[in-house]
Amino acid sequence: MEPHHAPLPDLADDDSVIRIGDLRTLRHDFTRFMMRHRFGMEEVVTKLTILRDEFALLHQTNPIEHVASRLKSPDSLAEKMQRKGTQPTFASMRETITDIAGVRVTCSFVSDVHRVFELLTGQSDLKVIDVRDYIATPKQNGYRSLHTLIEVPVYLSDGTVPVTVEVQLRTIAMDFWASLEHKIHYKYRGLVPDDLQARLREAADAAHALDTRMEALHDEVKHLGEDGVESLTEEIRGELVTGDELVPTQALIEQLRRLAGD
Ligand code: GTP
Ligand code: MG
Repeated sequence: MEPHHAPLPDLADDDSVIRIGDLRTLRHDFTRFMMRHRFGMEEVVTKLTILRDEFALLHQTNPIEHVASRLKSPDSLAEKMQRKGTQPTFASMRETITDIAGVRVTCSFVSDVHRVFELLTGQSDLKVIDVRDYIATPKQNGYRSLHTLIEVPVYLSDGTVPVTVEVQLRTIAMDFWASLEHKIHYKYRGLVPDDLQARLREAADAAHALDTRMEALHDEVKHLGEDGVESLTEEIRGELVTGDELVPTQALIEQLRRLAGD
């Protein structure tokens, strides 16, 4: 795992003895190191799955839309170690590369992002190491998400190890924007032309405006599930078919659109 500062010598001309034993040990230690991170990541995914399933059972709405996880590839780990000047030791890797295990949670609404964040970080067996609220303070380019670094205990046969997991929480709109921005960033190798950057910023503002509208609309209609049709305005109530089932008519859909500001 040496960072490639100097060009590698031509392997065919390298006559130093390769110690197979050393290679095996390194490979074994690296596998264990990555495995711990995978276990930590799975612990966090399980916590989120439990929250999601419990919500699905007890409530009509669910704050978690989607959960994804990924383990950093060895290539991308090596690249980041080089970029950050990380010492080639496991301790240094653990210390400086905090996103080896990554979990991303997508929610429908900004309020859900905060709710899931509170429910997760409030759990007593994990430690919150860092929080970066790019929703309250978006990045210069328009990026929004709530990031947190948490440490979860992983129980192994020979003891318990704390594992750091990076969790990113965002809305569907934020996720849509971030994946597009990532693609563009990658395509231009980080050198995105100014006008494209400006348009991306505009798109981020539009995504944010959509989140605000969706939240307002959601607030307006969420009483439906809690208090039934009684809590609805006279106007909307008139558009619902009475009985247990709510059948939205075309007129109701129009009204909801108006509420959303269309
Ligand atoms: P790295 O960017 O990973 O070196 O870490 P950092 O210490 O700068 O942390 P930061 O919180 O800025 O970013 C961590 C992760 O969030 C990144 O690896 C991305 O997955 C995501 N992220 C941060 N900024 C952006 C952004 O501008 N665009 C996109 N698409 N994703 C971002
Ligand atoms: Mg960054």
